[in-house]
Amino acid sequence: MTPTIAIFGASGDLTSRKLVPALFELYRKKRLPEGIRIVGFSRTRFSHEAWREKLAETTAQFVGERFDAELWRQFAPSIFYQPGDIDNPADFVALDGFLQSLEGDQPTTRIYYLSTAPQLYDAALAQLGAAGMTREDRGPRRVVIEKPFGTDLASAQSLNRKVHEAFDEHQVYRIDHYLGKETVQNILVLRFANSIFEPIWNRNYIDHVQITAAEDLTVGHRAAYYDSVGILRDMFQNHLLQLMTFTAMEAPAQFEANAIRDEKVKVLRSIRPMKPEEVANDTIRGQYRKYRDEPGVPPESETATFGAVKLHIDNWRWQDVPFLLRSGKAMSCRTTQIVIQFRAAPHMMFQGGPRAPFESNRLVIQVQPAEGVQLHFQTKVPDAGMKLRLTDLSFNFRDKFASGMPEAYQRLLLDVLHGDASLFSRADEVELAWSIIDPIQRGWEHPGWPPLALYESGGWGPPNSVEWMCRQYREWFDTCPVLK
Ligand code: BG6
Repeated sequence: MTPTIAIFGASGDLTSRKLVPALFELYRKKRLPEGIRIVGFSRTRFSHEAWREKLAETTAQFVGERFDAELWRQFAPSIFYQPGDIDNPADFVALDGFLQSLEGDQPTTRIYYLSTAPQLYDAALAQLGAAGMTREDRGPRRVVIEKPFGTDLASAQSLNRKVHEAFDEHQVYRIDHYLGKETVQNILVLRFANSIFEPIWNRNYIDHVQITAAEDLTVGHRAAYYDSVGILRDMFQNHLLQLMTFTAMEAPAQFEANAIRDEKVKVLRSIRPMKPEEVANDTIRGQYRKYRDEPGVPPESETATFGAVKLHIDNWRWQDVPFLLRSGKAMSCRTTQIVIQFRAAPHMMFQGGPRAPFESNRLVIQVQPAEGVQLHFQTKVPDAGMKLRLTDLSFNFRDKFASGMPEAYQRLLLDVLHGDASLFSRADEVELAWSIIDPIQRGWEHPGWPPLALYESGGWGPPNSVEWMCRQYREWFDTCPVLK
């Protein structure tokens, strides 16, 4: 079935920066179904031709040297534009008519991609439902919903209700672009396609797990939006908790959407909800010093741009193994990494051996910028008595695979086209994630729970985050990408 993708909010940033470049790359790799139609819908008036020209420019900019003008000329006729207003039912009837005129009598897979401002999601869903565009009598109808999926549990539940008034859950694809990253998927392969990791992947061998998503960028032109969101909603509820569930979940019996999501949901259900009095002790919140000077940020803003959170999973595998999640803007570099910190050897007979538990084995799964895995272990320094040093074994995708690493959206768009929801969040999953974040967010709304610590740009967040780890006899793995 030749598919149609209708993008709502088509004149926005995401379409030009991510979606169309990803679709073009897929076209270049001959992965898109023959005859695919990509239709933009938003209020700005464009002719088909004017929109194609605008996208040619932005795609060339974001695809870089892989952009090929001749290929774009072949691809461009599959792109169309239909102006319309999300609030106007007649515009949806017109859109449906236009899509049918493209599709003819053949059954078609239709994908509705919501990339509008989130406050328009309810209206878009209701209009799609009311116009009869979600019925599957002429082929599959799917909806892709961009983040943020709500701003707390109550709003996520309300949005899920709106989604389910128009669509059945099997039609829904809630995006978290971290799940489209190759190394995130590779966590499952590392754990469940090898036999050597599984026996030690538990409380008997692992002291704690650190998950860091550091960005060197400041909030910049997104400051006005960011100020109402903050680091917990922006990074923890979605990306960090997704990384945590992939690291902690049990092996699903099949690589299949519901089997995978069932296991992730079990992890989320087992995360111990934080009590109000624990928020002050088990979290750190910070703000980079220049944040309040960003245009659009109120001078008294208490919005956190850095967060560190200690979570516990109450199940057999992970009892007493803290998961230390951390993310921040304006940090020393861009790196996303999962550090599995193993326990120290039970007895150290070498005088020159590690002095601290955090010098014992660790597995670093580097999600970005370079993707790969590094195993740290003690070795003997040659010609220096029995002096030991932590050294490593590295695997970097780039060294082993010539094909290059695709952008996350390529994989996710292909999965939606194929009807595979394994890498998308289910309704219960997003709600559970909010139920973990909400108590922390509520705690942070009290001044001093914990106090907002200012930090200099270009470091690893506020100094009290380091002290917080020291008090736990632990240390952050503050290393800019270990793999280049
Ligand atoms: C987005 C957040 O979801 O993820 C941004 O809204 C953040 O604030 C971005 O910068 C990080 O994504 P990536 O893929 O660059 O790590």
